[in-house]
Amino acid sequence: MNGPVLDNRLAPAAIYEELARLFEKFGDEQYGEAITQREHMLQSAHMAEERGESDAIVVAALLHDVGHFFSPQTEELVSDGRPEQNFCHEVLGARFLESCFGPEVIVPIQLHVAVKRYLCSVEEGYYESLSEASKHSLVLQGGPMTPAQVEKFSAGKHSDAAIGLRYCDDHGKQVGIDIPGLEYYRELIIKMVNKDLRAA
Ligand SMILES: [Fe+2]
Repeated sequence: MNGPVLDNRLAPAAIYEELARLFEKFGDEQYGEAITQREHMLQSAHMAEERGESDAIVVAALLHDVGHFFSPQTEELVSDGRPEQNFCHEVLGARFLESCFGPEVIVPIQLHVAVKRYLCSVEEGYYESLSEASKHSLVLQGGPMTPAQVEKFSAGKHSDAAIGLRYCDDHGKQVGIDIPGLEYYRELIIKMVNKDLRAA
């Protein structure tokens, strides 16, 4: 699968500018629950900070849905005969970011949909707590995990971090709250750009 990839030859400040450009271009699109994509991602990051999550999870929460900026519509994929799971927004987002951020940011982003499937299997009342849009997308995402999938997921190195991100995602859907904008996270993003992975 091809898709856009964030250029890891850019300086960290330029990577922030590129992310800011994408938020500007696509952030006004509806998230589907009376808020925009930008509001949802900023609220998720704010929630992560309020909960005292690590810097990596704050950045992951801020960027977790960046793949929605590039997702073709599901209907397009199905009519085109392509397997839609290869084009899921968490996969697109993780691939877009992975040359610029470490696994502590990327893996929770990659897993944030799987966590929903996991929590629907293991946590009583979780499914009922989901928004209608989230219940609907669960069906498209494969439904609750099977016991074997639950076991495999639990054993993963970043599963706890991914659950933390999911909490922020689920609670980042409030209408009309006053929170910091993207600029507030500029220094944190710059700090978290993985210098080891950047080309010389
Ligand atoms: Fe989200």
